[in-house]
Amino acid sequence: AARAMLEENALGKAGSEVLVEEFLEGEELSVLALTDGEHFAILPPAQDHKRLQDGDFGPNTGGMGAYCPVGVATPALLRVVAEEIIAPTLRALKAEGAPYRGVLYAGLMIRPDGSPAVIEFNCRFGDPEAQAILTAMPAGLLPVVRMIAEGGWMPSGVTLGETRHAAVTTVLAAAGYPDTPVAGAEISIPDDLEASGEILLFHAGTTRGADGRLRVSGGRVLGVTAVAPTIEEAAQKSRVAADAIHFEGKQFRRDIGWRELA
Ligand code: GLY
Repeated sequence: AARAMLEENALGKAGSEVLVEEFLEGEELSVLALTDGEHFAILPPAQDHKRLQDGDFGPNTGGMGAYCPVGVATPALLRVVAEEIIAPTLRALKAEGAPYRGVLYAGLMIRPDGSPAVIEFNCRFGDPEAQAILTAMPAGLLPVVRMIAEGGWMPSGVTLGETRHAAVTTVLAAAGYPDTPVAGAEISIPDDLEASGEILLFHAGTTRGADGRLRVSGGRVLGVTAVAPTIEEAAQKSRVAADAIHFEGKQFRRDIGWRELA
Protein backbone atom coordinates (compact mmCIF):
# COMPACT_ATOMS: atom_id res chain seq x y z
CA ALA A 1 0.00 0.00 0.00
CA ALA A 2 2.82 2.40 0.87
CA ARG A 3 4.58 1.70 -2.43
CA ALA A 4 1.35 2.18 -4.39
CA MET A 5 0.72 5.51 -2.68
CA LEU A 6 4.24 6.95 -2.51
CA GLU A 7 5.84 5.57 -5.68
CA GLU A 8 3.00 4.67 -7.99
CA ASN A 9 0.91 7.72 -7.16
CA ALA A 10 -2.19 5.52 -6.70
CA LEU A 11 -4.10 8.17 -4.75
CA GLY A 12 -2.52 11.22 -6.41
CA LYS A 13 -1.63 14.06 -4.06
CA ALA A 14 -3.77 12.56 -1.30
CA GLY A 15 -1.28 9.68 -1.06
CA SER A 16 1.90 11.75 -0.99
CA GLU A 17 2.10 11.64 2.81
CA VAL A 18 1.57 8.51 4.89
CA LEU A 19 0.75 8.40 8.58
CA VAL A 20 1.61 5.16 10.37
CA GLU A 21 -0.77 4.41 13.23
CA GLU A 22 -1.28 1.69 15.82
CA PHE A 23 -2.74 -1.48 14.27
CA LEU A 24 -5.99 -2.24 16.04
CA GLU A 25 -7.19 -5.77 16.49
CA GLY A 26 -10.66 -6.82 17.57
CA GLU A 27 -14.24 -6.51 16.38
CA GLU A 28 -15.53 -3.57 14.42
CA LEU A 29 -18.54 -1.74 15.76
CA SER A 30 -20.36 1.21 14.22
CA VAL A 31 -22.07 3.30 16.88
CA LEU A 32 -24.34 6.02 15.54
CA ALA A 33 -25.64 8.75 17.81
CA LEU A 34 -28.41 11.15 16.91
CA THR A 35 -27.75 14.53 18.47
CA ASP A 36 -29.18 18.03 18.72
CA GLY A 37 -25.73 19.26 19.73
CA GLU A 38 -26.44 19.02 23.48
CA HIS A 39 -28.27 15.75 23.99
CA PHE A 40 -27.85 12.54 22.12
CA ALA A 41 -29.35 9.08 21.80
CA ILE A 42 -27.46 6.05 20.56
CA LEU A 43 -29.03 3.96 17.80
CA PRO A 44 -28.71 0.17 17.91
CA PRO A 45 -25.10 -0.45 16.82
CA ALA A 46 -24.20 -2.45 13.73
CA GLN A 47 -21.16 -4.38 12.59
CA ASP A 48 -19.79 -3.69 9.12
CA HIS A 49 -17.70 -6.18 7.10
CA LYS A 50 -14.99 -4.22 5.33
CA ARG A 51 -13.06 -6.98 3.57
CA LEU A 52 -14.17 -8.18 0.16
CA GLN A 53 -14.13 -11.91 0.85
CA ASP A 54 -15.58 -14.38 3.33
CA GLY A 55 -13.67 -14.78 6.58
CA ASP A 56 -12.49 -11.14 6.37
CA PHE A 57 -9.96 -11.77 3.61
CA GLY A 58 -9.16 -9.75 0.52
CA PRO A 59 -8.93 -6.00 -0.01
CA ASN A 60 -10.64 -3.38 2.11
CA THR A 61 -13.92 -2.03 0.75
CA GLY A 62 -16.52 0.54 1.74
CA GLY A 63 -18.48 -2.31 3.37
CA MET A 64 -19.70 -5.67 2.09
CA GLY A 65 -22.46 -6.19 4.61
CA ALA A 66 -23.72 -5.34 8.08
CA TYR A 67 -25.95 -6.70 10.79
CA CYS A 68 -27.87 -5.33 13.73
CA PRO A 69 -28.19 -5.82 16.70
CA VAL A 70 -24.65 -6.81 17.72
CA GLY A 71 -23.97 -8.95 20.79
CA VAL A 72 -20.64 -7.31 21.56
CA ALA A 73 -22.44 -3.97 22.00
CA THR A 74 -23.47 -4.61 25.61
CA PRO A 75 -25.17 -1.89 27.68
CA ALA A 76 -21.94 -1.58 29.70
CA LEU A 77 -19.86 -1.03 26.56
CA LEU A 78 -22.35 1.50 25.18
CA ARG A 79 -22.20 3.44 28.46
CA VAL A 80 -18.43 3.71 28.05
CA VAL A 81 -18.84 4.77 24.41
CA ALA A 82 -21.43 7.38 25.40
CA GLU A 83 -19.42 8.80 28.30
CA GLU A 84 -15.88 8.56 26.94
CA ILE A 85 -16.33 9.00 23.19
CA ILE A 86 -19.63 10.58 22.08
CA ALA A 87 -20.22 13.09 24.89
CA PRO A 88 -16.66 14.51 24.97
CA THR A 89 -16.61 14.77 21.17
CA LEU A 90 -19.84 16.78 21.12
CA ARG A 91 -18.58 18.98 23.97
CA ALA A 92 -15.31 19.61 22.14
CA LEU A 93 -17.08 20.49 18.89
CA LYS A 94 -19.26 22.98 20.75
CA ALA A 95 -16.27 24.46 22.60
CA GLU A 96 -14.56 25.02 19.26
CA GLY A 97 -17.56 26.93 17.96
CA ALA A 98 -18.76 24.11 15.72
CA PRO A 99 -21.76 22.60 17.54
CA TYR A 100 -22.90 19.53 15.63
CA ARG A 101 -26.45 18.38 14.97
CA GLY A 102 -27.35 15.21 13.15
CA VAL A 103 -25.86 11.73 13.08
CA LEU A 104 -22.43 11.32 14.64
CA TYR A 105 -21.01 7.99 13.50
CA ALA A 106 -18.18 6.53 15.57
CA GLY A 107 -16.34 3.72 13.81
CA LEU A 108 -14.87 1.69 16.65
CA MET A 109 -12.66 -1.31 17.18
CA ILE A 110 -13.53 -3.30 20.28
CA ARG A 111 -10.19 -4.63 21.48
CA PRO A 112 -9.83 -8.16 22.86
CA ASP A 113 -9.92 -6.70 26.41
CA GLY A 114 -13.34 -5.18 25.62
CA SER A 115 -12.19 -1.56 25.47
CA PRO A 116 -13.27 0.59 22.51
CA ALA A 117 -10.86 2.47 20.25
CA VAL A 118 -12.00 5.07 17.72
CA ILE A 119 -10.94 4.47 14.12
CA GLU A 120 -12.94 7.29 12.54
CA PHE A 121 -15.87 9.64 12.87
CA ASN A 122 -18.36 10.34 10.12
CA CYS A 123 -21.03 13.04 9.98
CA ARG A 124 -23.67 10.78 8.39
CA PHE A 125 -25.30 7.38 8.56
CA GLY A 126 -23.05 4.47 7.57
CA ASP A 127 -23.44 2.45 4.42
CA PRO A 128 -24.31 -0.44 4.66
CA GLU A 129 -24.91 -0.05 8.42
CA ALA A 130 -27.93 2.23 7.93
CA GLN A 131 -29.78 -0.41 5.95
CA ALA A 132 -29.45 -2.91 8.82
CA ILE A 133 -29.96 -0.43 11.68
CA LEU A 134 -33.01 1.38 10.32
CA THR A 135 -34.63 -1.88 9.27
CA ALA A 136 -34.07 -3.45 12.69
CA MET A 137 -35.41 -0.43 14.62
CA PRO A 138 -39.04 0.09 15.51
CA ALA A 139 -40.85 2.93 13.76
CA GLY A 140 -40.58 6.35 15.37
CA LEU A 141 -37.19 7.70 14.31
CA LEU A 142 -38.55 10.16 11.76
CA PRO A 143 -40.11 12.69 14.18
CA VAL A 144 -36.82 12.89 16.12
CA VAL A 145 -34.77 13.26 12.94
CA ARG A 146 -37.12 15.98 11.71
CA MET A 147 -36.97 17.83 15.02
CA ILE A 148 -33.17 17.86 14.88
CA ALA A 149 -33.09 18.89 11.22
CA GLU A 150 -35.45 21.77 11.97
CA GLY A 151 -33.33 23.05 14.83
CA GLY A 152 -35.34 21.73 17.77
CA TRP A 153 -34.16 19.97 20.90
CA MET A 154 -34.51 16.27 21.49
CA PRO A 155 -37.12 15.43 24.11
CA SER A 156 -35.32 14.48 27.32
CA GLY A 157 -35.09 10.78 27.99
CA VAL A 158 -35.58 9.80 24.35
CA THR A 159 -34.13 6.33 23.73
CA LEU A 160 -33.54 4.89 20.29
CA GLY A 161 -31.51 1.79 21.17
CA GLU A 162 -34.25 -0.81 20.82
CA THR A 163 -34.61 -3.23 17.92
CA ARG A 164 -37.79 -4.98 16.89
CA HIS A 165 -36.04 -7.73 14.97
CA ALA A 166 -32.65 -8.75 13.61
CA ALA A 167 -31.53 -7.38 10.25
CA VAL A 168 -28.71 -8.50 7.96
CA THR A 169 -27.60 -6.64 4.83
CA THR A 170 -25.55 -8.38 2.16
CA VAL A 171 -23.97 -6.02 -0.37
CA LEU A 172 -23.84 -7.09 -4.00
CA ALA A 173 -20.77 -5.55 -5.58
CA ALA A 174 -19.81 -5.08 -9.23
CA ALA A 175 -17.12 -7.07 -11.03
CA GLY A 176 -13.73 -5.50 -10.32
CA TYR A 177 -14.85 -3.83 -7.07
CA PRO A 178 -13.16 -2.28 -5.09
CA ASP A 179 -10.27 -1.26 -7.39
CA THR A 180 -11.86 -1.06 -10.84
CA PRO A 181 -15.64 -1.61 -10.68
CA VAL A 182 -17.18 -2.44 -14.04
CA ALA A 183 -20.46 -0.69 -14.92
CA GLY A 184 -23.06 -1.68 -17.46
CA ALA A 185 -24.08 -5.25 -16.57
CA GLU A 186 -27.83 -5.86 -16.71
CA ILE A 187 -29.40 -6.77 -13.35
CA SER A 188 -32.21 -9.27 -12.99
CA ILE A 189 -34.26 -9.37 -9.79
CA PRO A 190 -37.06 -11.91 -9.23
CA ASP A 191 -40.43 -10.08 -9.20
CA ASP A 192 -41.53 -11.57 -5.90
CA LEU A 193 -38.25 -11.10 -3.99
CA GLU A 194 -39.63 -8.39 -1.68
CA ALA A 195 -43.19 -9.76 -1.57
CA SER A 196 -42.90 -11.40 1.87
CA GLY A 197 -41.86 -8.13 3.53
CA GLU A 198 -38.78 -9.92 4.91
CA ILE A 199 -36.46 -8.69 2.15
CA LEU A 200 -35.75 -5.05 1.32
CA LEU A 201 -33.52 -4.04 -1.57
CA PHE A 202 -31.62 -0.79 -1.23
CA HIS A 203 -30.32 0.48 -4.56
CA ALA A 204 -26.92 2.17 -4.65
CA GLY A 205 -24.91 1.52 -7.84
CA THR A 206 -27.89 0.95 -10.12
CA THR A 207 -29.37 2.93 -12.96
CA ARG A 208 -32.22 2.46 -15.41
CA GLY A 209 -31.09 2.95 -18.99
CA ALA A 210 -33.09 4.44 -21.88
CA ASP A 211 -34.25 0.89 -22.65
CA GLY A 212 -35.82 0.67 -19.18
CA ARG A 213 -33.47 -2.09 -18.05
CA LEU A 214 -31.77 -1.97 -14.66
CA ARG A 215 -27.98 -1.86 -14.94
CA VAL A 216 -24.91 -1.68 -12.71
CA SER A 217 -23.62 1.88 -12.38
CA GLY A 218 -21.24 1.73 -9.40
CA GLY A 219 -19.12 -0.46 -7.16
CA ARG A 220 -21.63 -1.34 -4.48
CA VAL A 221 -24.75 -2.17 -6.42
CA LEU A 222 -27.50 -3.32 -4.04
CA GLY A 223 -27.93 -3.79 -0.29
CA VAL A 224 -29.97 -6.96 0.17
CA THR A 225 -31.49 -6.64 3.63
CA ALA A 226 -33.41 -9.37 5.42
CA VAL A 227 -35.31 -9.21 8.70
CA ALA A 228 -36.04 -12.17 10.97
CA PRO A 229 -36.29 -12.97 14.68
CA THR A 230 -32.60 -13.95 14.83
CA ILE A 231 -29.37 -12.93 13.09
CA GLU A 232 -28.92 -16.51 11.93
CA GLU A 233 -32.27 -16.56 10.11
CA ALA A 234 -31.83 -13.04 8.73
CA ALA A 235 -28.34 -13.92 7.45
CA GLN A 236 -29.67 -17.01 5.71
CA LYS A 237 -32.57 -15.12 4.09
CA SER A 238 -30.26 -12.32 2.96
CA ARG A 239 -27.87 -14.85 1.42
CA VAL A 240 -30.65 -16.69 -0.42
CA ALA A 241 -31.98 -13.39 -1.80
CA ALA A 242 -28.47 -12.29 -2.80
CA ASP A 243 -28.10 -15.55 -4.70
CA ALA A 244 -31.39 -14.97 -6.54
CA ILE A 245 -30.29 -11.63 -8.04
CA HIS A 246 -28.12 -11.87 -11.12
CA PHE A 247 -25.68 -9.68 -12.98
CA GLU A 248 -22.38 -10.45 -14.65
CA GLY A 249 -19.43 -10.50 -12.26
CA LYS A 250 -21.60 -10.18 -9.11
CA GLN A 251 -19.52 -10.40 -5.93
CA PHE A 252 -20.88 -10.85 -2.42
CA ARG A 253 -20.00 -12.35 0.93
CA ARG A 254 -21.85 -15.38 2.21
CA ASP A 255 -20.83 -14.94 5.83
CA ILE A 256 -22.30 -11.61 6.99
CA GLY A 257 -22.75 -11.87 10.76
CA TRP A 258 -20.24 -14.72 11.13
CA ARG A 259 -18.65 -13.37 14.28
CA GLU A 260 -22.02 -13.08 15.97
CA LEU A 261 -22.91 -16.65 15.04
CA ALA A 262 -19.48 -17.97 16.08
N1 GLY B 1 -19.48 1.43 6.21
C1 GLY B 1 -18.58 2.45 6.53
C2 GLY B 1 -19.02 3.81 6.28
O1 GLY B 1 -20.17 4.08 5.97
O2 GLY B 1 -18.19 4.69 6.38
